Amino acid sequence: MQNKIFSKEAFSGKNLVISGGAGDIGLEVAMEFVKAGINKIALLDNNTDQLNFASDALKKMSCDNIKIETDLSKEASIKAAIEKIYKEEKHWDILVTSAGLYIGGTLIDYQADDWDKLMVINARSVFLLSRLMAEQMIKRGQGKIVHIGSSSTHYGTPGSGAYAASKAIVNQLTQTMAVEWGPHNIQVNTICPTVTETKFLKFVEGDALHEKFREKLKRKIALNRLLMPSDIAPTVLFLASEAAQFINGAVIPIDGGAKLVST
Ligand SMILES: NC(=O)c1ccc[n+]([C@@H]2O[C@H](COP(=O)([O-])OP(=O)(O)OC[C@H]3O[C@@H](n4cnc5c(N)ncnc54)[C@H](O)[C@@H]3O)[C@@H](O)[C@H]2O)c1
Repeated sequence: MQNKIFSKEAFSGKNLVISGGAGDIGLEVAMEFVKAGINKIALLDNNTDQLNFASDALKKMSCDNIKIETDLSKEASIKAAIEKIYKEEKHWDILVTSAGLYIGGTLIDYQADDWDKLMVINARSVFLLSRLMAEQMIKRGQGKIVHIGSSSTHYGTPGSGAYAASKAIVNQLTQTMAVEWGPHNIQVNTICPTVTETKFLKFVEGDALHEKFREKLKRKIALNRLLMPSDIAPTVLFLASEAAQFINGAVIPIDGGAKLVST
């Protein structure tokens, strides 16, 4: 279905890099960009099967795309991916960082190794990838960066403290990136979705997909339904579009009013 907000030409001539582009939210975002006329997409992910699936899905929509197996936990792998995409195209206009890892656990029980794993993917890779892209965007004097953060950064989150802390780093980085790169006409913003109807859910609470857990989540959301990837994608497109030229350094909740509900 054609997006009613963005025309088929909204992003024509623009190229998009998306980390975690093979994931549930990443692929939905990529597909929405295709409907809005994006020229080319580079998918960066370390899950080969999902990467193939995502690339094929985009091809079926006649989207020119390259899939690059990238281990975002390794700086050399990130650098190699960026070198590869700039051999393919002179300009990449938009970066969306959607790769993410969730390892739950209360702070008392949390393992230091798990803490490190989360920080490396959810925070360090966002920094390294954004910096490499920003270096190129600065040369062109324009660029848009949208990070997928998490609404868990806005409250105490029992059982998700390390995850929330790793995502809180992204919120802060967003502001510094916005200030350091804003003078080069690069806008950097973060969206913070609440728990979303994806396979990510099963990591949050074991076999979470049963109704009881869903009901518990819904009660916390003023709109009384769970967030879908299709609710997230249009906001990413808006922030990457000309319409958001003066939005920079924003950390935007997509949580259906969850903060307002007292339970
Ligand atoms: N699903 C949710 O409930 C939810 C809620 C709020 C925020 N988020 C955030 O949204 C983003 C996307 O989540 P999703 O639901 O699509 O999850 P997902 O697991 O479907 O997608 C995440 C992607 O990141 C990739 N990835 C993980 N480690 C990697 C590595 N070392 N190198 C390269 N790629 C790697 C995975 O292969 C996967 O394709 C994540 O940053 C997540 O933290 C998710």
